[in-house]
Amino acid sequence: MPKVSDYPHVGKAIVDAIQRGAPDVDLNELPNLQDMSPDKLTENVVAINSLDKNERRKYLLERLVQYMHTYVKETNLTTEEWMNAIQFLTKTGQTCTDLRQEFILLSDAFGVSALVDTINHPKPKGATESTVLGPFFVEDARTVENGDAIASEDKGEPMLVKGRITDTSGKGIAHCLIETWETDEDGFYDTQYAEYEQDCRGRLYTDDDGYYAFRCVKPVAYPIPNDGPVGQLLRSMGRHVFRPSHLHMMFQAKGFVELITSLYFKGDIFITSDAVFGVKSSLITDPQQVKDKAQAQKYGFKSDEFWLLERDFVLVTPEENKKQKQINDDELKKNLEKNHIKI
Ligand code: BEZ
Ligand code: FE
Repeated sequence: MPKVSDYPHVGKAIVDAIQRGAPDVDLNELPNLQDMSPDKLTENVVAINSLDKNERRKYLLERLVQYMHTYVKETNLTTEEWMNAIQFLTKTGQTCTDLRQEFILLSDAFGVSALVDTINHPKPKGATESTVLGPFFVEDARTVENGDAIASEDKGEPMLVKGRITDTSGKGIAHCLIETWETDEDGFYDTQYAEYEQDCRGRLYTDDDGYYAFRCVKPVAYPIPNDGPVGQLLRSMGRHVFRPSHLHMMFQAKGFVELITSLYFKGDIFITSDAVFGVKSSLITDPQQVKDKAQAQKYGFKSDEFWLLERDFVLVTPEENKKQKQINDDELKKNLEKNHIKI
């Protein structure tokens, strides 16, 4: 069968494009895309995309096209609204830099990040739930000794975080890497200051029995980055841009699925309206105030009082993750079918 390049009279622009890698397709094998009525248009796009040999990509794009077309038809999207969306996405892209990811923020603000995370990290009963990573993690946090401080004491109210990392049977996980990061008392991460000096973040390892402890400061609530198109959109919609105070924690140990999570604090004014949908009730903690000079000294605080946050974490193996995902996927599918959503 003739390919595009076999036809006489194809112009140089086409020959050049094929030479540079554009597929040299057999035109006789393509679907006939001539009827562009609203319903046929969707079928046409799906038909031409179905040539894709990558089955997963083919499926993902088929569903995306169908949902987008349904959205346009259902909402009767106007040309002006379409153009507004294009301009918004353009600005979102233009706001991204090596250090700022406005598209992830958009995904966060519409709950997509939280949904993807929850679906991919299902937890059997008792295992610690995950939550959104956010934009303030850095790869090269300094390592501190188990029990040491990750924050300068003058950055807020001193807090001791301690507990144990275990598997689902309760066995301690030795030498588990813990990465943790938080805001200072003003609600800023170190990376948000013009002069970046690492503070309020660190990495440490559990001991032979899985125990860990570190000193930090009690983090406070803060706004997500809101000086770009996402912030502007949320403001126009009348949505606030705040996150409740939280301590980010990430765990890595051989033989276990990486856990990215955060601890939240009971009583925070934004605990029920997190701008990025990261709060899960199992992650809400209630640190206790300890006013005891001897205790404070024992843990290495300079002050006479501190907050004590005792918290254990339970990691899952890849097999446990896979098993739970299968159970959850079946449930998800059943619910979609119940709501008459074609899958
Ligand atoms: C954060 O917790 O650091 C965060 C998460 C999502 C969006 C913005 C900030
Ligand atoms: Fe955060």
